Amino acid sequence: MTADILFDPLSAEFAQDPYRIYRQLRQRDQPYFYAAQNMWLLSRYDDISTIATSPHAVRSLVGIRSPAEIAAWQKQANWHDMPYHERVVQFSLLDSDGDIHRRLRRQIFGAFRNDAIGHLEAVVQGFVDALLDDLADRQQIDFMADFAVHIPGFVIGHLLGAPASDCQQLRLWSERIVQFFDVDRSDERKRLAETATHEFFDYLCDLKRQREHNPQNDLISKMLVDEKAGLYTLDEFISTCMLVLMAGHGSTIDVLGSGMHTLLQHPQAMAELRQDETKWPTAIQELFRYEPPLPFFHRHMTSDFSIRGQTFPEGTTFGLLYGAANRDPGQFEQPDAFRINREPNRHLAFGLGAHLCLGNNLARMNMNVIFRTLLKRFSHLARVDGIVPYKPGLSVRGPKVLNISWKPA
Ligand code: HEM
Repeated sequence: MTADILFDPLSAEFAQDPYRIYRQLRQRDQPYFYAAQNMWLLSRYDDISTIATSPHAVRSLVGIRSPAEIAAWQKQANWHDMPYHERVVQFSLLDSDGDIHRRLRRQIFGAFRNDAIGHLEAVVQGFVDALLDDLADRQQIDFMADFAVHIPGFVIGHLLGAPASDCQQLRLWSERIVQFFDVDRSDERKRLAETATHEFFDYLCDLKRQREHNPQNDLISKMLVDEKAGLYTLDEFISTCMLVLMAGHGSTIDVLGSGMHTLLQHPQAMAELRQDETKWPTAIQELFRYEPPLPFFHRHMTSDFSIRGQTFPEGTTFGLLYGAANRDPGQFEQPDAFRINREPNRHLAFGLGAHLCLGNNLARMNMNVIFRTLLKRFSHLARVDGIVPYKPGLSVRGPKVLNISWKPA
């Protein structure tokens, strides 16, 4: 076994470069026990793929723990005494398994297929063009606060059926709920998450009522048909809407930021993309591999399981470091190199198996439209600051601020 690792995902060092620690984790002979979260961290591509696709690995504790044990776990994680959060965030299609998960996933799966989201491309293009028109006179912007944060609320809101004027609010709620999934579970962060969930719940009930009277061509109206057919409870309905809004929100903002940062660090790649648009599809995949915005998820084991000769008992929790898998030299040649023509590129930025990201087509379409447009409209794009600060934490990855200068083409 290699010398032990100082694993502190809240440290500034980890925020700036998690890949150094991921490498140390991968080089260990055995998975790493992360005592603060009582879980074993997996960092190699093969181990993570095995668990993500295993029928013995589940997301929810229901089914492998008694209600009393779950209550004790919630208390230890500070996930207790938050009634709305417990109803519609701690329970969701992402955090369910088996028949419930299949039923909930099947109901919205069609809305995320490429043929169903095709019409959104024009919506994204129109919104991004208008946003850039407003910003184009400025010589310098914070790519995060001035640009990236405005996009996903509008796009996912449009898909679901939320008015554009509510997007700012949807973003705030999403951020306040998502921050509480990370390892810092202070009471202050808990209060923010519970209040946001309550307000978001009321908002979605109201939107649902409006669509009951006045159906539109949007996801919420389609879900109402399924609810009438008895396929949703109220909590399932609301938690699914909330999950769709939240899962794609911060992740899209973050990958836009780290994607822009990556391109700015690789001017040769940017020049090639300006010259040859056919390179975009593989380049977008490589941006997701290189800097996945959601680098960490978990699974609980429903039976004893062996990994690299070590047996882990039923009930073990594994942390799946998708971000570390994406830099595994056993899977990717020169994994720390950013190559826009990398193929094959079976990265795990969208996970694998039963919980594979439902929004992955939408996420790639967004990136494609946005980066093509930026490179077409701006002949010069450059970083202003030397160091780009990244957010601390294990579950999310993206720049806090990204000041860039630009010149219209
Ligand atoms: C922008 C980049 C995105 C990334 C990197 C990403 C990543 C992921 C990952 C890794 C998972 C699997 C979690 C696990 O293994 O436990 C997941 C699940 C999910 N994602 Fe995404 N996501 C993105 C965008 C989106 C968008 C735009 C939406 C929808 C609007 C979305 C909706 C979902 C849903 C509903 C699930 C749960 C699927 C299930 O449990 O069956 N995601 N995402």
